[in-house]
Amino acid sequence: MTADALERVAAASQSVAGRSPEDVAKDEFYWREVQLAFKLDRSLINLNNGFTCPTPRVALEAVWRYMDMVNMLPVHYQAMIARNSETIRLRMAKEFGCGPDEIALTRGASEALQIAQNGIDLEPGDEVVTTDQDYPRMLTTWDQRMRRDGIKVTRFQFPVPTTQDDLYQRFEKAISPRTKVFHFTHITNLTAQLFPVQRLSRLARSKGIVTIVDGAHALGHFPFNLRDLECDAYGVSLHKWLLAPLGNGCLYVRKEMIPKFWPLQAAPEQQDNDIRKFESIGTHPWALRAGLGEALAFHQAIGAERKAARLRYLNLRWVDALKVHPRIKVLTDFSEPPQAWGVAAVTIEDMDVRSLARFLMDRYRIISVPLVGGAPPNSVFDYQALRISPNVYTTLEEIDTFIAGMEEALESGVPEVPASAVEELEACR
Ligand SMILES: Cc1ncc(COP(=O)(O)O)c(C=O)c1O
Repeated sequence: MTADALERVAAASQSVAGRSPEDVAKDEFYWREVQLAFKLDRSLINLNNGFTCPTPRVALEAVWRYMDMVNMLPVHYQAMIARNSETIRLRMAKEFGCGPDEIALTRGASEALQIAQNGIDLEPGDEVVTTDQDYPRMLTTWDQRMRRDGIKVTRFQFPVPTTQDDLYQRFEKAISPRTKVFHFTHITNLTAQLFPVQRLSRLARSKGIVTIVDGAHALGHFPFNLRDLECDAYGVSLHKWLLAPLGNGCLYVRKEMIPKFWPLQAAPEQQDNDIRKFESIGTHPWALRAGLGEALAFHQAIGAERKAARLRYLNLRWVDALKVHPRIKVLTDFSEPPQAWGVAAVTIEDMDVRSLARFLMDRYRIISVPLVGGAPPNSVFDYQALRISPNVYTTLEEIDTFIAGMEEALESGVPEVPASAVEELEACR
């Protein structure tokens, strides 16, 4: 089964080739084939795939295989895999719509984004505009530049869900003569609010402002071309929705902008215009890149549109079942045309979200994330919600168990617990 999982998924895709992604999204025979490609612990219901995701077995086995090989003669094989990773760069660029000379392979989104955030020249008094619901580590990075370099960071709040127009206007209003950078997520890690990346990038460019976009949750989740976004830099966690082995990410930098960003670890001057300058990080496990190659092949075997449609279908199943209850509030916009897929947030009026998460875990073995706002430099928001993120291996039965758990909570209430009772759930967002 393991060895031929990729072929079986590709064959299943071949057999549904004439049907629409929305139709295939409902085909349990098709998704069974996908589910079998993973080695999972189904004693728990994992509805927190926004943290990181299990990688398909073919990808994990590639890592083991290459680790084994490297270990035989590192001096020979490390360099060989490093050279061969150019193939992966080419394939990534082709799949995600950019030039191979515009994509650097990193260890995750934190590294990718910090290259851009710390790598752009800013003078004291220069301003960065971002939002209060950006990712804590990225906000902390700006906070550190504020303390170190004397830049100014303007953060603004927005309601959820909100419209693309609203977000555009909030950025437009926040611009000052000293604004040099816009930093925002493609979709947030909280309610999956979608941002109008292309419009904001055009606005920024018209005023000489650089755009750094946090695409940690977006690439491999729903289809788009990187170049079409028109942003300057875009950082991704490939161990999230692309299902690559842990320790894979990438940084897209628009070709003309490559010389404008310094690498996080120094590179020679001759590499100023070379995207590879961002990859000079010393010795690290190249075998992980071999796993990335397999994860990409797996993603391609399913197909980006089919995957996005299935993720949306799984979330819509519980959204539609629960939204009839007057106390249920879905904080993610599931209207048409689609703006949300695998990540969604929901709340029950007058119910503490941490207690709800504990109840779902204790009674139904469901892993979810309770979202509660913090204080700067952390994300700040004034709502509470449960984040739910299924994945391609999630079964309808698992979604239905979540619906049953939420209905029981609505009907009978849940025991109050202290914040410390869900620390392990809350941390994984
Ligand atoms: C919005 C967002 N940005 C950045 C990151 C950091 O990604 P990584 O863990 O790959 O460094 C995450 C991780 O959860 C995230 O959700």
